[in-house]
Amino acid sequence: MLPDPVLFERAATLLRAGELVAFPTETVYGLGADARNPAAVARIFAAKGRPASHPLIVHVRDLAAASEWAATVPEAARRLAATFWPGPLTLVLPRARAVPDAVTGGQPTVALRAPAHPVAQALLAAFGGGIAAPSANRYGHISPTRAAHVVAELGDRVALILDGGDCPIGLESTIVGCTEQGLTLLRPGGIPASRIAAVAGPLVAPGAAVPRVPGSERAHYAPRTPMQLVDPGRLPGAAGMALAEGERIAVLAWSPPPPDAAGCVWRQLGPEPESYARQLYATLRELDEARVTRILVEQVPEAEPWAAIADRLRRAAAGSGMALPDAP
Ligand code: TXA
Ligand code: MG
Repeated sequence: MLPDPVLFERAATLLRAGELVAFPTETVYGLGADARNPAAVARIFAAKGRPASHPLIVHVRDLAAASEWAATVPEAARRLAATFWPGPLTLVLPRARAVPDAVTGGQPTVALRAPAHPVAQALLAAFGGGIAAPSANRYGHISPTRAAHVVAELGDRVALILDGGDCPIGLESTIVGCTEQGLTLLRPGGIPASRIAAVAGPLVAPGAAVPRVPGSERAHYAPRTPMQLVDPGRLPGAAGMALAEGERIAVLAWSPPPPDAAGCVWRQLGPEPESYARQLYATLRELDEARVTRILVEQVPEAEPWAAIADRLRRAAAGSGMALPDAP
C-alpha cells in the first residue's frame, strides 16, 4: 500500500528545505537528503553519528538521471543498469564535478542506485533530483527494514518517515565498482556476483586500485547483544553447554530446532536464502531486545545465494556486544 500522494509532496518540500526524510527501498530503509545540498547531507552524518569520510549512495530514478552524477558511464555499467535497474544494485562510477564532496567523502567516485520500490520511485519523482541516502540506522547498527525500526534508530532526528511496510529484500544492495581497472564486487547483496559477471564480464579481485568502501569495516550491522557464529554440527552442543551454565540464549538458525532445544529462544529463518534475508534484520532486532546473554547463529551454507547473508552475519558477529558511540 502506498502512502497518501500528499505525503510525497510534503516529503519533497522537506527535502528542498534541507530536511531529512526516511523512505523504504526494496533493500532497507534509507535516510534521505537533497544530494546537491551539502548542509542537508551534513545532517545525515550528524543524525547517524557516521564519520564524514564514509561516502553516501545517491538515489536516482534511472540511468538518464544517473548520468548527471557521473563523469562517464562505462559500457559495462550501462549494461548492468539496463539489466538490473531499477533494483538492488549500486554502481560506483567516476564522479561528475558537481557532486558535493560531502556525498563522496572526497573520493573521485560516486555511488549511484535506482531503487525499484514504488515509494522510493514516487519520492524521487516528486522531488525531481538525486537523494543521498545511507541506511536509516545509527552508525554500525542493524539496518532498518520497517518504519518502526527507523523510529527506534533515529526518532525525531528525521523530519518525516514514509512507511512502505516491510522491505521485500531485506539486505543492502550489491555494490559494484566500475573503473578502468574493471568491475569489482565491493559489497555482496541481493544480486549474486555470477549474474553481474554474466551481464558485464568477469569481476576483478579487489586490490589497491579499486575504490575504497569505507562502510565495509569488519564490524558492522551489529546487535548490542554478543553474537557468535557456530557450525551447524556444533550448534546443539554449544546451545546445551550455554544453557547448562545458566545462560539465557537465543539461536538464529536456518535449520529446524533439534528436540532438545527447549530452553532457548529458537528462530528459524530458512531454509530459503530469500526468506532468510527478508527476516534477518528484524529478527536480530527482536533477539537483541529479548534480554538474552548471547545470540548463537548457525553458520549458513557456503553457496552463492547465501553469500550476502554470510557477509552480514560475519560483520554483525564482529561488531556485536560493542557499546555504540552517541552522536555529538
Ligand atoms: O541498499 C542499499 O544500498 C541502502 C539503500 C538505502 O539504498 N543503502 C545503503 O547505504 O546501504 P549505506 O550508506 O549504509 O552503505 C553504502 C556503502 C557504504 O559502505 C559506503 O562507504 C559505500 O557504499 N560507498 C558509497 N559511496 C562510495 C564510493 N564512492 N566508493 C566506494 N564506496 C562507496
Ligand atoms: Mg548502512
